[in-house]
Amino acid sequence: MSLISLTWIFCAQIFLHYSLEISAEVPALIVFGDSSVDAGNNNNLSTIAKSNFEPYGRDFQGGRPTGRFSNGRIPTDFISETFGLKPVVPAYLDSAYSIKDFATGVCFASAGSGYDNATSNVLSVIPLWKQLEYFKEYQAKLRAYLGKSKANTVLHEALYVMSLGTNDFLENYYTIPGRSSQFTIEEYQNFLVGISEHFIRSLYILGARKLDLTGVPPMGCLPLERATNIMAGSSCREEYNRISRDFNGKLQVLIEKLNRTLPRMRIAYGNAYETVLQVVQRPLSYGFENAGAGCCATGMFEMGYMCNQRNPFTCTDATKYVFWDAFHPTEKMNKIIADHIVNNNLMVF
Ligand SMILES: *[C@@H]1O[C@H](CO)[C@@H](O)[C@H](O)[C@H]1NC(C)=O
Ligand SMILES: *[C@@H]1O[C@H](CO)[C@@H](O)[C@H](O)[C@H]1NC(C)=O
Ligand SMILES: *[C@@H]1O[C@H](CO)[C@@H](O)[C@H](O)[C@H]1NC(C)=O
Repeated sequence: MSLISLTWIFCAQIFLHYSLEISAEVPALIVFGDSSVDAGNNNNLSTIAKSNFEPYGRDFQGGRPTGRFSNGRIPTDFISETFGLKPVVPAYLDSAYSIKDFATGVCFASAGSGYDNATSNVLSVIPLWKQLEYFKEYQAKLRAYLGKSKANTVLHEALYVMSLGTNDFLENYYTIPGRSSQFTIEEYQNFLVGISEHFIRSLYILGARKLDLTGVPPMGCLPLERATNIMAGSSCREEYNRISRDFNGKLQVLIEKLNRTLPRMRIAYGNAYETVLQVVQRPLSYGFENAGAGCCATGMFEMGYMCNQRNPFTCTDATKYVFWDAFHPTEKMNKIIADHIVNNNLMVF
């Protein structure tokens, strides 16, 4: 082979390498939150908020339970894939992965967590402030791996996703004493929004410029809440849906404010509420047969350890169900949520 053609191949390879790494508009997905986006960080914690056993993950690659609270992938996995990144976003605490994998996507989320420290304390999971500490540690590793300048570009161009809040209401405020004697529900929402603002400002200082702040779903339509609404025919609990709307409204006001005050920061509101409500109200038109109960076990109250292999009632085809367990969507529903958020809210990135 001539020197010229060798040189050409060499250059072409460099070019290919270069364009693959630099041309991506979103070079990495960086995730904070609760079980809606946890990819398995809780697996190593002493908590009951786990799902790294069957039948969780039975429709995941290899039928593997990963600690995702679903039968398969979760919304952030689909969002990552849509942006041309990996089809699964690895959990930061999963020792099977290293900074090489995390360079294009990393998940710090922890099932059972919330904005409020008191929420993550309920099940001894990773509080939001600790997720941020892990992120700082990650930044140092990324700079060591990619070099400072390239790492900073990735941190600037990455899409950050926050998805949490449901547990602050359902696992904390309405379940255990404490916050409800301290705050009215309106005051508590403002308290959470204040934490959200503080967190986003911290992310901004650390280099984030593109953020999806996901609102809470219609909490009253989660099977667990419907099951306790027997007097009303197990329909969605409107009081909880109203709290979801109020809280999401406050998040949107926060977004407008931060969008005005943080130069070059772009924040999109991820509207999970509308998507889930539409599907729950018209499941058939999305190809679902059941929107009121989860696939796992009786579908009315089981999640985590109660959704296990010994339960004879678990459905055989999760694609017919909106919810996988009493609290978390199926993979099919997670893809619908992700697609709606990407198409309606994240196109700007
Ligand atoms: C997770 O557990 C493994 C095996 O017990 C251990 O080697 C690893 O250090 C743990 N990781 C964390 C973050 O606790
Ligand atoms: C949550 O806990 C952390 C660590 O103790 C603390 O720094 C932070 O101020 C707490 N957040 C709130 C809102 O109290
Ligand atoms: C953010 O501000 C820009 C103008 O600076 C505006 O075009 C955009 O719609 C705003 N986004 C939100 C979510 O408020």
